[in-house]
Amino acid sequence: MISIRPIAGADEESRCAGMMAATDPWVTLSRGYDQCLSSIRNREREVYVAADAAAVRGLIILSMTGAFAGYIQTICVDAEWRGAGLGTQLLDWAEERIFRRWPNVFLCVSSFNGRARALYERRGYELVGELRDYLVDGYSELLMRKTIGPLQGFVPKQ
Ligand SMILES: CC(C)(COP(=O)(O)OP(=O)(O)OC[C@H]1O[C@@H](n2cnc3c(N)ncnc32)[C@H](O)[C@@H]1OP(=O)(O)O)[C@@H](O)C(=O)NCCC(=O)NCCS
Repeated sequence: MISIRPIAGADEESRCAGMMAATDPWVTLSRGYDQCLSSIRNREREVYVAADAAAVRGLIILSMTGAFAGYIQTICVDAEWRGAGLGTQLLDWAEERIFRRWPNVFLCVSSFNGRARALYERRGYELVGELRDYLVDGYSELLMRKTIGPLQGFVPKQ
């Protein structure tokens, strides 16, 4: 059975960094293992994993402060586990966490990642804008937002 919990320890950090570095979009974006590991180790972020009794199968990184508070920085599921609902489970969990604190969830999807974009659109994310040549030349990052209302009048839950 899969549970979602904070990442624990160096072994899980390196497994998650390896999972990211081995796959698109990070391959096309030239984000190698070391860069993936530093984003996982960034203490300004919250990192959660989807794991069963044997191993970590996916991760999600959240930014809960700053200009776009409630930003999903990274979501990745082990290639062998994709298409089985784990990404949806991680997104459900992250949205529940973020919507307790903020009325918006933000994320970016690379212009070449049509399948991930379709997943977000099905879940109610809308395109906010296009950051052209933002991470690498020739591709855009598409900023998307899912909202439950304006900041004014929003009361965070404890
Ligand atoms: C995107 C991702 C997290 C979704 O997790 P998942 O467990 O495969 O997703 P679910 O089983 O809950 O939902 C399936 C949907 O995910 C998307 N998806 C599946 N495989 C994917 C892949 N290799 N790359 C991107 N999106 C994918 C599709 O929209 C799919 O729906 P479809 O089968 O109707 O096309 C996962 O596929 C992944 O890690 N992909 C590579 C990394 C990535 O693209 N991350 C998103 C960066 S913005």
